[in-house]
Parts: sequence; C-alpha cells; structure tokens
Amino acid sequence: ERVIKIGLLGLGTVGGGVYRVLQKNADLIARKTGVRLEVAGILVRDVGRDRGLSLPPGVLTDRPEDILDDHTIQIVVEVMGGTGPAFDYVRRALKRGKSVVTANKDMMAEHGKELFDLTREGKSDLLFEASVAGGIPIIRVLKQCLAANRIEAVMGILNGTTNYMLTRMTAEGTDFQTVLQEAQALGYAEADPTNDVEGYDAARKTAILASIAFNTRISFPAVYVEGISRITAEDITYATELGYVIKLLGIVKDTPEGIEVRTHPALLPRQHPLAAVNDVFNAIYVRGDAVGETMFYGRGAGALPTASAVVADIMDAARNIVHRVPGIISCTCFEERPLKEMGR
Ligand code: NDP
Ligand code: HSE
Repeated sequence: ERVIKIGLLGLGTVGGGVYRVLQKNADLIARKTGVRLEVAGILVRDVGRDRGLSLPPGVLTDRPEDILDDHTIQIVVEVMGGTGPAFDYVRRALKRGKSVVTANKDMMAEHGKELFDLTREGKSDLLFEASVAGGIPIIRVLKQCLAANRIEAVMGILNGTTNYMLTRMTAEGTDFQTVLQEAQALGYAEADPTNDVEGYDAARKTAILASIAFNTRISFPAVYVEGISRITAEDITYATELGYVIKLLGIVKDTPEGIEVRTHPALLPRQHPLAAVNDVFNAIYVRGDAVGETMFYGRGAGALPTASAVVADIMDAARNIVHRVPGIISCTCFEERPLKEMGR
C-alpha cells in the first residue's frame, strides 16, 4: 500500500477536525484512494498545549521549515488562516512542487491568481473546497459539475456565524453580543469575528464564487459589502411582522453592464427557500443556462463539516499524485470580465 505524507499548517478548530477525520476514517480513505495518508508534521504556535488528540510524539512543530523543507511531505494542508505567513508558506509549498489544500478564503480571495499561477507547471494541485460554505461542495460544483453552463446567478447564505446569530436573534430575541459569543464558543467564528459580523468573510466567499462561476478574477475589494452589525432588534421585529426574514446574502449576477458582486443583509419573504436556512447552515442557489436552477445546502462552519471538505480535497490531491496528474483540477486560465459599478 502506498503511503503519502501530509503536513498540516494549523491544528485549531478545522485542523483538529481534519486530524480526527483522517484518524477515524483512515481505512475507508485508504480503500477509496489506494493510498494511506500519514500526518508527518503539524505546525502550531504553541507545541506544549494539550490538544485532546492522540498525536504521535514529535509531530508538532513551531518551525514551518520542518514541513515546507521536508521532501517526503507531498501534500500541505493550510488550516491556520489569515493572509500573513499562510500565504508565504503556501507559496513556498507550491514552488517546491507540493500540492496544497486550504480552507483559507482570506488568502484565496486576495492572492488566488498568484497561487494558481504557481500550479501552472502541473506539478501540484491547489484545492480550496472548504474556503466557501464549510462542508457544502460548491467549488467543485461550479468548477466541474456545472462547467458546461454559462452561469447566470449565484446567491447564497455563505457565513455560518451570522446566520446562526440572525436565527437566534429572530427566534429568541437573544442580544447580539451573547449570540456572537455562542458562535465563537462553537468554533464557527473567525479568529477576528469582525470578519463575520461586518460581512467581510461572506464577501471573500462571494468573490471566490464569482471568480469560479465566471472564470475570471474578482478580488475581495471589488465586492460591495455590508454586514449585520447595524441590524437592530426592531429591524428583526418589523421584518417578522411584515412576513420577511433578514439574511446576509452573497449575490453574483451576470448582467449586461458587467458582473454584479455584492454581500449585504436582505429581506427575504418567509416562503423563499433561503429564508428557511437556519443556524449554522448555509445554502447556495445557482442558475445556469443549461441546468436551470439548483440549490446546495449544508453546514457552513464547524470542525467536522469543514474537515469533510478538506479531507476530500486531500484525497483528490493524493489520487492525482498517484496517477501523476497534479494540477488537473486547478483552475489556471482566466478571462477578463468587466464589473458592474455598485457604488458604496
Ligand atoms: P483556529 O484559530 O482555531 O486555528 C488556527 C491554527 O493555526 C491553530 O492551531 C494555531 O496554532 C495555528 N496558527 C495560526 N497562526 C500560526 C502561525 N503564525 N504559526 C504557526 N501556527 C499558527 O482557526 P480555524 O481552525 O477556525 O480556521 C482555520 C482556517 O479555516 C481559517 O482560514 C478559517 O477562515 C478557515 N475556516 C474555518 C472554519 C470554521 O468553522 N472555523 C470553516 C471554514 C474555513 P495554536 O493552536 O498553537 O494557536
Ligand atoms: N467564520 C466562518 C463562518 C467559518 O462562520 O461561516 C466558515 O467559513
């Protein structure tokens, strides 16, 4: 049985979930891929902290070179977050011909094109299914399953934290700070929850979806964004009285004036399919010229749902290494597409 070594950058909520799924489903993964995945190194800040996981001795390190310079590690899994060192480490891994799996929407929304350019020589994969909508397989859907379509619109609830908050504020009248703390305790929120509540996280995901849907390059600053921090209890009460639900939506449309990309709270009629998407669940509506309307639903955050997407990417990267076709599912050619002016 062939063994492929992987290195994790990060062992927090998502990294811990990835490690658990790799351990729990090791035999299943080996049967499905023909490969045994071995975690050979894990980068963290604090190597001394007890993580409640049965880790092999010496696997934790605070030196990135232990993973990036180890020629036996073929897949690097970036689950540390942010755009600082994470971007540098991923770039270094790709330059060394390693495949990279990441859950990092901040990095993909800001530096995706530069990273894809590094995969062009076909030495490595860059896979990022978990970067949008946690466990929902939407990147593959847009990139592969719906590839034959001209995509007309994508609209979705893309942030689990704010959907959880809005659900609890609507159903129970719980105050903003209390529900935010709950979402943080459940591992849904970003390291800086401003990214969630101000809509930046959903806007980054919207930029990634727009880029894939339209085979172009739309970066985060191009997205019109408003978060939920100014939504009051009165807004929720009035919306409920009038038969509406407030949801934070990411919206992408192909219009005659260019591509429209925006993220903001919206009033949805109670009967709308997205109005029934509650708690940490996300959902994405996609309309293509051939397929028509489709909807995808699932948990948008949390350790195991996100690990489901990350580990599936690791399995694809491993298969591609075995079959000597890395880069086959990376998206490397982009078209220039005009953006519709949204105003601020
Ligand atoms: P956490 O903050 O829980 O974990 C981050 C991990 O990375 C920790 O283990 C931390 O080490 C390590 N780390 C961070 N910075 C450094 C550094 N400079 N050097 C070494 N190690 C470092 O984050 P999450 O697991 O929640 O998120 C990780 C990524 O996944 C982010 O990009 C996030 O946006 C994305 N994501 C998160 C989801 C979620 O539900 N939480 C869902 C989908 C995507 P230490 O443990 O020692 O502090
Ligand atoms: N903070 C993000 C959310 C994590 O709540 O949706 C998943 O990307």
